[in-house]
Amino acid sequence: MDLPRPRGGLWQGLLVLVANLLTCRMFQASGHIFISPDTLVGAVGYRSILILENVSENVLEYSWHRGEEGNAANMIFSYRPPSSRLPGPMYSGREGVTRNGDLVIRPSALNDTGNYTVQVDLGNETQTATGWLQIIELKNPGISANASYLVEDMDSVVAVCHTNATIVKWYVNSIPTSSSNRMTISPDGKTLVIHRVSRYDRTLHCETEHFLGITKRSELISLNVSYGPDYVTLWGTPSIFMGALTAQPGSQVELTCSAHSRPPPAYRWLHNGSLLGSADTVTLPRLAWEQMGSYRCIVENRETQLVMYRDVRIQPPRKCPLSPGTTTPVVHSGFHVSGTLAVFLIVMTVLGSVYLCGVLVHILISHYSTRTTRAT
Ligand SMILES: *[C@@H]1O[C@H](CO)[C@@H](O)[C@H](O)[C@H]1NC(C)=O
Ligand SMILES: *[C@@H]1O[C@H](CO)[C@@H](O)[C@H](O)[C@H]1NC(C)=O
Ligand SMILES: *[C@@H]1O[C@H](CO)[C@@H](O)[C@H](O)[C@H]1NC(C)=O
Ligand SMILES: *[C@@H]1O[C@H](CO)[C@@H](O)[C@H](O)[C@H]1NC(C)=O
Ligand SMILES: *[C@@H]1O[C@H](CO)[C@@H](O)[C@H](O)[C@H]1NC(C)=O
Ligand SMILES: *[C@@H]1O[C@H](CO)[C@@H](O)[C@H](O)[C@H]1NC(C)=O
Repeated sequence: MDLPRPRGGLWQGLLVLVANLLTCRMFQASGHIFISPDTLVGAVGYRSILILENVSENVLEYSWHRGEEGNAANMIFSYRPPSSRLPGPMYSGREGVTRNGDLVIRPSALNDTGNYTVQVDLGNETQTATGWLQIIELKNPGISANASYLVEDMDSVVAVCHTNATIVKWYVNSIPTSSSNRMTISPDGKTLVIHRVSRYDRTLHCETEHFLGITKRSELISLNVSYGPDYVTLWGTPSIFMGALTAQPGSQVELTCSAHSRPPPAYRWLHNGSLLGSADTVTLPRLAWEQMGSYRCIVENRETQLVMYRDVRIQPPRKCPLSPGTTTPVVHSGFHVSGTLAVFLIVMTVLGSVYLCGVLVHILISHYSTRTTRAT
């Protein structure tokens, strides 16, 4: 086949070429089959479908081939409606032809990339179409963060999703995450910044979305967020009331300190200001008189550099002279008055004094006045 030689120069040649292209397209448009171009990209491991369009009603046979031409040697699969299906030499066990004549490859492999030709036998004519299938490998995105050991409410972390995908989603603790006052996601979606990490930020990962709704996820990045100590509590056996633990000399006393902290905190105990121990618990098997006094539990997190403390006083029970032998710990020895009673007593005392003074002054005045009356 030879093209007409352009005689009248370049413009004439171009016109002939355009005319040729137009006739070509017009021929294609007149009820000719074609392979839908949108499906020509597939992914390794997923299904690929080469969709046949513009097929007329009465098809005797569809046959799909590898390469640019349809011959017996490169046939993959043929389908004669309604139910005769026949594999060809290029059949790999993953291909099939649907009722509509579409070729399905499942799962796709990289080497499925290439030309595919379909022949449709319409009885009085055979139509062919060729399409290109490109199989690409969709990789899981990579992920990196500039820190994984962090301090709560202090440190920020920047994580990057390494991908060329245009749709990127972020997950914190496997929960989809969007920009908030605590986190920022860059406009291209590839960077996540957590401005002040919290103890509840445990894992990060990103996910990319591709054609056909295929998603790929990165590995998990674990964040080690230090926090505390908080909820520092000190309790004792016997129990502590109003900062004091009352125990008989000779009895056993135990003091325990606890806190919420990561990493686990360091504990120190002071007794009357001097270091006693460095465990969370202090046990005094037989309380001696010199072990009475003030105790302080110091809790320190060396990562967050926060230090907290709690105090307690160990004291002997107060003597109760009014009731010897009976145990009435509620009644305190000594003179004890409540606040309102004290106010009442003070007011009564003042009023009483004023009254007494008045009486005294009255007596004095009447005494002197009687004396002066007598003197006159
Ligand atoms: C499909 O076939 C119809 C006629 O059946 C025709 O009008 C149309 O142009 C064809 N489309 C293509 C893209 O070939
Ligand atoms: C295509 O690759 C697969 C492995 O992915 C292999 O088993 C198969 O033989 C290859 N086919 C051809 C035609 O090279
Ligand atoms: C696929 O077919 C096109 C034309 O339809 C051709 O230009 C191309 O070289 C072919 N590719 C391969 C790898 O056979
Ligand atoms: C084939 O037959 C159909 C009717 O069955 C007709 O419309 C079509 O033009 C025919 N094609 C050829 C190439 O003769
Ligand atoms: C990570 O990057 C952020 C923002 O640039 C910065 O504030 C933070 O200090 C970095 N963290 C480390 C451990 O470098
Ligand atoms: C992104 O594409 C560029 C060039 O196309 C390539 O060099 C790079 O490795 C790709 N990155 C990823 C994460 O796929």
